[in-house]
This record gives sequence, C-alpha cells and structure tokens, in this order.
Amino acid sequence: MKININELDNLAISPDILLLGEIASLKQIGEKLFVSQHFYDDETAEEIERLLSARFPCIHVEVSQQTEAKIVQPNLSPKKNINNIIAIASGKGGVGKSATATQLALALAAQGARVGLLDADIYGPSLPTMLATRDAPEVLDGNRFKPHFTHGIESNSIGYLVDENVAMIWRAPKIVGALMQLMDDTAWGYHFDGKLDYLLIDLPPGTGDIALTMAQKIPVTGAVIVTTPQDIALDDAVRALQLFETLKVSNLGVIENMSSHICSHCGHESHIFGQRGGRQLAETYHIDFLGEIPLNKAICASLDAGKPLVVAEPQHAVSQRYHQLAKKIAIALAKKPKSFSQTFGKIAVESAPKNTLH
Ligand SMILES: Nc1ncnc2c1ncn2[C@@H]1O[C@H](COP(=O)(O)OP(=O)(O)OP(=O)(O)O)[C@@H](O)[C@H]1O
Ligand SMILES: [Mg+2]
Repeated sequence: MKININELDNLAISPDILLLGEIASLKQIGEKLFVSQHFYDDETAEEIERLLSARFPCIHVEVSQQTEAKIVQPNLSPKKNINNIIAIASGKGGVGKSATATQLALALAAQGARVGLLDADIYGPSLPTMLATRDAPEVLDGNRFKPHFTHGIESNSIGYLVDENVAMIWRAPKIVGALMQLMDDTAWGYHFDGKLDYLLIDLPPGTGDIALTMAQKIPVTGAVIVTTPQDIALDDAVRALQLFETLKVSNLGVIENMSSHICSHCGHESHIFGQRGGRQLAETYHIDFLGEIPLNKAICASLDAGKPLVVAEPQHAVSQRYHQLAKKIAIALAKKPKSFSQTFGKIAVESAPKNTLH
C-alpha cells in the first residue's frame, strides 16, 4: 500500500497538536513508514505512532526523535557540540528566570533530550543552590571544565568556581571573560557522547554587558522572556525583547511566572500581581505567549532544597506545566529553519582583485 502523504494533512489530530507541524519528515519504504520528529517527547511520538497506525493499519509505523542545529544570528554559526542554545531572559530581577530555566532544562531532559544549563549570572549565580552543586568542576586535559551532571542535566556556573563574594568585585571585562570561558571552555555534551540537544542559558537580570555579549557572541537559536504580570516587570521585559530584536536573536516567546496564587486550603485563585500582562505583552510585540506558571511555594521550596519540583514530584500539576512549556519551546525550535553551517563548514569567499585606475 502506498500512502499519499498529502492525505495526512487532513487527518483529524488531537485538538492542541497539529500533527504535521511536529513531524520533520515522512518516508515510506515498502510497508514501513518512517516518521522523524525533530524534538524529543515520548508522549507525542506515541501519539503520532498511534494515530498513523490506526489510519494505515497495514503499515508499520516507526517514529524516531532527534534535534538538529537551527539557524542563529546572521554572523554566527551554531556550536559543533550544541544543536540549540536557548537564552532565558527578563528585564527585571527576581521574576523567576533561574527557577524557570532550571525546571525547563529538567523537563526537556525528562522528555529524552540531552540538556545543559549554563548559569550566566556571574554576580548572583543560582545553580549552586537550585541544583545543590557546589564543588569545583574537574578540569579535563588541563584546559576544559567537565560539566557537573545532576538530575540528568549538565551544568556549569561561576558559583562552582569561585567563592560567592569574589565575582562581586569584578569589572565588566572580567565578567564578560568569565561568561565566554564558561561557554567555550566547558566540555558540553561530555556526559552524552559529546553532543547536547539544548543548552539553556540562565541570564542575569537586565540588558547589560552579559546580555549584550551573549546576543553578539554566542550563537543563540532563540530567547525566552520570563516576566511577572506587573507593569513594572513588563516594561523591563520589553527592553529585553527589543535588545534581542535589534541584535537579531529570535524571540521564541513569553512565559508569565507567578501569574496567580492558588490557595492551598480553599483552591481559590487570586491574581495578586495583576492579570494577563504577559499575554498582552506577547500580543503587542507579535511573539508567542508560551504559558503561565502560578505562584506556588512548592517551586521555591524544591529549588531551595536543590531538588526542583520537576524531578522531586514529576506528577505535580506545576511540574506538568513546565513539561507543557518545554514541549512548546522544543516544537517552536523544531519549526525553525535548519542551519547548514555544521554540515558544510564555513565557505570562504575571496574578493576578486579590484580594478586599478590608471
Ligand atoms: N512560580 C513561583 N512560585 C514560587 N516561587 C517562585 C516561583 N518562581 C520563582 N520562585 C522563587 O522566587 C525566587 C526568585 O526566583 P529566581 O531566582 O528564579 O528569579 P530570577 O529572575 O532568576 O532572579 P535574578 O534576577 O536575581 O536572577 C526564588 O526563591 C525562586 O525559588
Ligand atoms: Mg536568576
């Protein structure tokens, strides 16, 4: 039986998943249909397999999952050992970037991806607490850091390397140098046969030197903006959005954190910081609204204990929210155009000799 691929367009798929948007390629060889999904999510893979098998009962359906390097800023090429770098940013401090970056990294890893987390907050690193990792990383071959491997993800942070108070007195060039060293001199992918699907960068607040350096020097596939719903946080989030837009870093979407408080006694939901601010921001600036995370003390407590909720209580409703967000981000990345620079390397174009005027 030969499948008419166009027919798949008309398949009735689960309401929130448009099947073809998630499939990178389909290939039929004899009675086998090979489907490749360009992100990791076992649940989606199973659903695709189930739907296609039901539709074409005589065909054996095989779904494979992988990621590929996507395009980055115009003047940069993706790193050979990292398919996609995702920056987690905000304008305002304390809105939950580190909490969100850590839980998203763990959710992506739980979905099957090879994930790293770089703590780019040189003045106020969070990972030593949130992942309970404080030891100095091992140095490999005398010049590269072996990333820590905790709860299934790799990480590196200035907090593993120097005492808390040392970086506080560093000036901007040293801070920028430290970021680039953490980025380039860490053996990312060491625990996964040398390759990461995603490296998440947890940025410090604001649009200062670190954010600028990252946008100009680190090949980023997309930035995710975290905000709380208050006007003051939203104003700062706009500045971050605009910085990335100016420097041609693609904005993947907005996450509204601490969007509401659900009373643990009566279940009443109150929007203590205002309502829908993140959604409106996304609408105004024509970027995706990825979703909301409520204010929940289990998030804070689990991070303080070094065992984030996504690993401590994977079935918790809030952990499921992080999973949904992680999946949305993975799908948004999968839909971006592929980068060919890893395949072909850089092509050097030599300029022709200039005409000489006599
Ligand atoms: N949705 C949430 N519910 C409850 N607590 C949260 C939530 N999100 C973050 N927190 C807690 O709020 C505090 C600030 O969060 P976090 O450190 O992630 O913010 P940040 O934006 O990274 O801050 P900074 O700008 O200083 O880097 C932390 O103690 C964190 O555990
Ligand atoms: Mg932080």
